[in-house]
Amino acid sequence: MNIAINGAKVTNVTIEMFYEDFLPENLKYLKGMFEGKAKELYVLVSNEQSIEYKVFVGLGKEKDLTQELVRNAVAKAAKRVKELNLEGASLQLCKSSILSEAQIIEAMVDAIELGLYAFDKYKTDKKECNTLEFSIAGVTDVEVANRCVEERKHIAAGINTARNIINEPSNVLYPETLAEIVQACGKQYGFEVEVLEGEALHALGMHAMLTVGNGSVHKPRLIVMRHKNGGEQETLGLVGKGLTCDTGGYSLKSNDSMYYQKTDMSGAASVLGTMIALGQNKIHKNVIGVIPACENVVSGCSYKVGDVVTTMAGKTVQVLNTDAEGRLALADALTYIIEKEKVSKVIDLATLTGVAGVTFGNVYTAAISNHDDFYNTFLSAAEDAEEKFWRLPTDARYREWINSDVADLKNTGAAGGGTITAAMFLQEFVQELPWIHLDIAATACVDPAVRDYEYRGGTGVAIRTLYELITK
Ligand code: BES
Ligand code: ZN
Ligand code: ZN
Repeated sequence: MNIAINGAKVTNVTIEMFYEDFLPENLKYLKGMFEGKAKELYVLVSNEQSIEYKVFVGLGKEKDLTQELVRNAVAKAAKRVKELNLEGASLQLCKSSILSEAQIIEAMVDAIELGLYAFDKYKTDKKECNTLEFSIAGVTDVEVANRCVEERKHIAAGINTARNIINEPSNVLYPETLAEIVQACGKQYGFEVEVLEGEALHALGMHAMLTVGNGSVHKPRLIVMRHKNGGEQETLGLVGKGLTCDTGGYSLKSNDSMYYQKTDMSGAASVLGTMIALGQNKIHKNVIGVIPACENVVSGCSYKVGDVVTTMAGKTVQVLNTDAEGRLALADALTYIIEKEKVSKVIDLATLTGVAGVTFGNVYTAAISNHDDFYNTFLSAAEDAEEKFWRLPTDARYREWINSDVADLKNTGAAGGGTITAAMFLQEFVQELPWIHLDIAATACVDPAVRDYEYRGGTGVAIRTLYELITK
């Protein structure tokens, strides 16, 4: 979308935000229809000389303002403008004692760029939608505002790319095509990409990852993204689970639980989205992203329950459930990023356990960490980005549950504690580096959309937080 500062291309459509405790006298006659409460929207159409549309959205109480409220309010308004087939709108900046002008603009840009996203490429009867023109009026510092618009648009481009690939079905998106997309993104947005496959992965000893993907005709790829723009600074590693489809393998999922498993590469999508934001904004940091991309399906070459595999780290794993495949692929990706890319801290993102959603629903992402300082820094970035994470404990007793009688580890724990035992399995492969694991199984996708700036399907969860963590 085009977003201009203090420009006015579209003059007959305005979006205005109001607080319920500062509602102007001349709007009080709308009582019962629009009172400035959060989530309220009212469209006033006047027809004096020419038709004018005023879209009013509510923010609630002035002292309770958050960027999230602005994001939701403006997204709701922008969607209405699109539904009404209007060309765009002029947005009036709201005054706030809580948020700075820049923070309000940030949220407005998020709202427009994310709120108007749609995944309708497979609809043959869709009507073509033009790029809408928006302008933000009433800005005092135009230079800061313009920089803000650019930066947030680039972050939103990362999120929207993540959403696109999450929403892509697995007959279109498989390891090879995912690698091609990442390569194209690297060229377009400015980061280096290397793709490893076949013999190269064997030579590295990445047998756990290779085993998971072996059943498919679409063989695994290890996708490595490098954003090296931070000179001598330390390197952060991001690992994203990239299962382009997880049928469960021989531990086959039911039809209903298989439906959304084309999204089992959402961790990969969030890592890619973050790299796009960093690349486009030319951030002066060193970040490496690694995606183990595999497809977990059934064939004569698939791995089976009872198999024992040797990981890149040399540890052996007994497979008790072929549907607990994510941790196997991630174990090798973690070893790779630590040993070959020399990162000094690592964060992994994975749609790892369905039970994460049993505890938190789609409100909080489950987190596990072996390092209090690193986790607290992450959490404060999450607070700034207004994304929600909740840390679960690790404990030696949970660790006992993944001991195997046959091998060093087994890939499922006892009944209960599934999100924790999955994370503690990964912890075995982080070599004591500061590490955070994000189990995004329940937050990577929404159906239906919960927030006004969301769209059914992929969310690009954690991208805003990771960007905040890396840049601040
Ligand atoms: N990809 C799934 C987890 C998942 C479930 C993501 C639902 C999104 C929605 C993962 O590979 C899986 O199947 N995990 C198993 C682990 C179990 C076998 C220990 C699960 O959650 O049931
Ligand atoms: Zn699985
Ligand atoms: Zn999976």
